[in-house]
Amino acid sequence: MTPRPLTLITGATGGIGRAIAAALAPEHDLILQGRDIATLQKLQSELQNDVLVTRIHLLSLDLTQPETFAEATADLRPTHLIHNAGVAELGGANEQGHAVWTRTLAVNVVAPAELTRLLLPAVRAGRGTVVFINSGAGLRAGAGWGSYAASKHALKALADALRQEEAEAGSGVRVSSLYPGRTASEMQRRIREHEGQPYDPASFIQPETVADVVRYVLSAPRDVSLEDVAVRPGPN
Ligand SMILES: NC(=O)c1ccc[n+]([C@@H]2O[C@H](COP(=O)([O-])OP(=O)(O)OC[C@H]3O[C@@H](n4cnc5c(N)ncnc54)[C@H](OP(=O)(O)O)[C@@H]3O)[C@@H](O)[C@H]2O)c1
Repeated sequence: MTPRPLTLITGATGGIGRAIAAALAPEHDLILQGRDIATLQKLQSELQNDVLVTRIHLLSLDLTQPETFAEATADLRPTHLIHNAGVAELGGANEQGHAVWTRTLAVNVVAPAELTRLLLPAVRAGRGTVVFINSGAGLRAGAGWGSYAASKHALKALADALRQEEAEAGSGVRVSSLYPGRTASEMQRRIREHEGQPYDPASFIQPETVADVVRYVLSAPRDVSLEDVAVRPGPN
């Protein structure tokens, strides 16, 4: 029997992260990263009520503090990494100060880069997959989206470089970027508030649908690698 993969999900306490955890729990053991340990513990007991066999390790980390990652992850040997945590603060380049840029780039790019560097030996050993939850803003930048789009363009560059490096190393590691459109979550609720628009979760992509795509990316037959997956709203 093949052993259950061990999969790290960052931002597991958020809308999409929680859905990914629920989608993977029947087949994966999980490392759930979040900031608040009480929220993580609640998520753990909810998942284990539904799926009895899943082993869950909780990883409490502030992703703006990369100097803490090495010690916190020293004992972890994940097969797959799902870089999902992210922040989006909208505003024009004429108004957003360096604190917003630093925070956004830290969570959305520096943290995935550093966690990948630290955990890549384990992913290589398991011939696993590194998944980056990007965004349509990683492919197009619009007015008022500068800091977020810059961070997601950089995240695409990280994924593309890593994919080529792993191919050249012959490591067997697959690297995927997913580009979801607007998805129902706390992030989207805040974006709509910033835009002065109502927030109706039913009118956006459902986080469970994005999670299903992630599950397929991980389980896809080894003769393919789903490198860039645009997850756009369907026609009504
Ligand atoms: N929602 C959309 O429309 C949409 C569209 C395209 C792409 N995405 C991407 O999808 C991913 C998930 O977003 P979401 O919509 O699920 O957002 P969300 O509900 O706001 O969740 C964001 C997650 O990131 C974590 N996080 C934020 N700052 C952190 C920090 N400093 N340290 C540790 N964790 C931190 C949050 O943890 P806390 O619970 O501790 O705050 C939360 O778990 C993001 O990468 C986002 O850019 C979202």
